[in-house]
Amino acid sequence: MSESGVRQRKKSSGGGGDGKPRKVPQSSSGQVSQAQHHRMWARLVLIVGICVVVYFTTFRTREKKFATQRETLELRSQKLDCSKPFFEEIAKYSGCIPAHCGRFVSDKIVGGAEVDILLSLAKQGFRFGGSSGGASILDLHSGALSKESQFVNIYKIPEAKQIFTAELINTYKHVKEKIREAVSEQFKLNKDSLHLTHPTFFSRLTNETAKTIHDEYWHPHVDKETWPAFHYTTLLYLADYGRDFNGGRFVFIDSDGKHNKTNVYIEPKRGRVSGFTSGAENLHHVEQVTNGMRYAITISFTCNSEHAMADPQFFIEEDEEP
Ligand SMILES: *[C@@H]1O[C@H](CO)[C@@H](O)[C@H](O)[C@H]1NC(C)=O
Ligand SMILES: *[C@@H]1O[C@H](CO)[C@@H](O)[C@H](O)[C@H]1NC(C)=O
Repeated sequence: MSESGVRQRKKSSGGGGDGKPRKVPQSSSGQVSQAQHHRMWARLVLIVGICVVVYFTTFRTREKKFATQRETLELRSQKLDCSKPFFEEIAKYSGCIPAHCGRFVSDKIVGGAEVDILLSLAKQGFRFGGSSGGASILDLHSGALSKESQFVNIYKIPEAKQIFTAELINTYKHVKEKIREAVSEQFKLNKDSLHLTHPTFFSRLTNETAKTIHDEYWHPHVDKETWPAFHYTTLLYLADYGRDFNGGRFVFIDSDGKHNKTNVYIEPKRGRVSGFTSGAENLHHVEQVTNGMRYAITISFTCNSEHAMADPQFFIEEDEEP
């Protein structure tokens, strides 16, 4: 329609070719050029608008909420193709090969009372140390506890003994076992081929300025590349996003082509378990915490029995023996 309008106007402004100086065409040509001007601008605006829309729908990073803090999920899962290196490596471990790669979240695996016990341990444990930057860890297997810019062994701190009660030890083992079962079920594995591995640890994240590389928890990474023994990563959250802390959401970064990214968010919630295959199909990071304290436990599994790790021994007693 606009094209025919242009054609018509060209005709009229081109004149009849009769050579006569005309009054009307002159005045109309003034009107026409103004109309053309408007039209040109309208088109430019339209074209720029289309470019902006195309750009943002094509190259924009999309956002998707996989699990919000408000909802209570029986199970939410997403299947993904395994990254090639992950699949090639895990193919060696029969019984431990996932039916598909992917991720899941469930709020029904760990109970509220269990979370309370574990959170209380985390809070008490970090009292004996704590990073001077934003990320502190407590590894009950090795005893490693962040302290300022280093690590100390919590089992060498006599006063820390009181926090390792029988109730805590049983809870820790029981919860770890339930999560192992959930991973086996989700990815259709033989449970006996799945072993706990290092590092498995409590974490506490805050908004403190990073002091060492260990404090920089927000960089996107693939677990398998950071920790080659990993095959399945799980997290148990001990704090609520939006209540106990802000920021600190867990984000999968899904790419489909170089400029097409989707950030897939998991909002932490007390008792929420998330699990995923540790290959490049699950590139992720944790947002920086803006306030409060974000407590969680990372529980890692391997298919390689050489990297299997026993339950913590809580070997504080040993130190007391002569
Ligand atoms: C971007 O990726 C999403 C999912 O990864 C896909 O559904 C969509 O078609 C892709 N869009 C383009 C323009 O490639
Ligand atoms: C860091 O968090 C604390 C509370 O946890 C808050 O009072 C403080 O304002 C936060 N700092 C910044 C820079 O946001």
